[in-house]
Amino acid sequence: MNREDVQLGDVQETLLIPLYGRARDAKARKPILGDATSVELVAQIDYDFTKFTGPSLAGSVLRTAMFDAWVREFLDQHPAGTVIELGAGLNNRSSRLDNGTAHWFDLDLPDTMALRRKFFDDSERTTMIAGSVLDTDWFEQVAATGGPYFFVSEAVLLYLGEAEVRTVIEQIAAGFPGHRMSFDTGGRAMMNNQDRNAVFKALPARMTWICDDPHDLEAWGLRLLDSRTFATPQPGLADNWPWRYKYGMPIMARLVPPVIKSYKLNLFDLPG
Ligand SMILES: C[S@@+](CC[C@H](N)C(=O)[O-])C[C@H]1O[C@@H](n2cnc3c(N)ncnc32)[C@H](O)[C@@H]1O
Repeated sequence: MNREDVQLGDVQETLLIPLYGRARDAKARKPILGDATSVELVAQIDYDFTKFTGPSLAGSVLRTAMFDAWVREFLDQHPAGTVIELGAGLNNRSSRLDNGTAHWFDLDLPDTMALRRKFFDDSERTTMIAGSVLDTDWFEQVAATGGPYFFVSEAVLLYLGEAEVRTVIEQIAAGFPGHRMSFDTGGRAMMNNQDRNAVFKALPARMTWICDDPHDLEAWGLRLLDSRTFATPQPGLADNWPWRYKYGMPIMARLVPPVIKSYKLNLFDLPG
């Protein structure tokens, strides 16, 4: 088998961490996501994934499961709605959650999209877009579906500067007022710990946007609907998680609060 070469920018290369996390999860005795596609992708990419070690691999799986839960909830309410994955990497949320009627857009930078296109195809309801979250030229294509819209951005805005994050949010809010958006935030404790994090020791990219409290983003016009940590997943979600996460995360949150509580997954209404 000819394996695909990886030619990615520093931040773009970070997509390989959650991909490997999902692949390892799929092979685990008790998988959380059970995403077999990720195992196939890892096998087809010529890259030393074994350099990624440590708790962030499992963390990326818990994170994806929690974002999946919000997307599922949105699709339960709006089965023909539109989900826009900002900074999709090689995440295949659309194949995990598709209900047969929703529209899906996967946006990422051109080099990431070139890699993604080697494994995924567009379909009648699934569209890949090469572009930046900082651009607005893709809005028209998305808006053509009629909505309602759910924007999900997982481990992407963390790599931007605060002014850039604000631009992204204000532009999307202006283009899609009153719709919904979810993304993660990292506080100072998490950001200051990156050089000690095993996966970041293997890569040059670093996260830059520090947000200690997602309530602060309400000053930008967002309305915070929900904010969770790995210790407080959506009700019932952790029922199929291995005990070390289901019970371990709440224990860790009590023993070493900054480690768990600094990273938050958030759900917002865009001003409308
Ligand atoms: C840590 S990866 C996360 C990938 C995916 N969300 C996941 O969880 O598997 C970060 C992703 O952000 C993308 N990214 C970084 N800056 C971006 C930008 N300005 N616009 C769109 N995507 C961006 C990278 O290409 C990469 O795919």
